[in-house]
Amino acid sequence: MNRRKALRHLATAALATPLARAQAAPPRPYRVVEVAKLEAEWSFFQFPFDGRHALLLRVPRPPEGDTRSLAVEAQGATVYLVAYHLICTHLGCTPSTPNAERQLVCPCHGSRFHALDGRAADGRPNPPLRAIALEVRDGVVFATGYR
Ligand code: FES
Repeated sequence: MNRRKALRHLATAALATPLARAQAAPPRPYRVVEVAKLEAEWSFFQFPFDGRHALLLRVPRPPEGDTRSLAVEAQGATVYLVAYHLICTHLGCTPSTPNAERQLVCPCHGSRFHALDGRAADGRPNPPLRAIALEVRDGVVFATGYR
């Protein structure tokens, strides 16, 4: 590598590193809502997260091996919570809140996702909705990043 190439390489690396760090920075934790406000299974709460809409749901006990939901003790029982970034994995529109079939429907091209686990519900090869990592502190749900 000659001197000019070496200097160009160093300049590029110096500029790229802060940009890469900024792009990889995790979203700031967000205080969503008190667990007690999600009074029944399938109740939900919308909130802003990482520049878009997100959805927190209280769901029934998830299938064995599920890694997307969070189980917390509240109201004298185990409560299961899951949250998704509301960005359709087809082309990025904003899916709806759950319908009567417990599906989130995208208004742009009709993709549907299971509210329970975010998987595609319509046979299309769309990836699941992106799950948000949750924590509960003193009875309050916080969105802390992605799963
Ligand atoms: S962007 Fe959601 S179905 Fe196309």
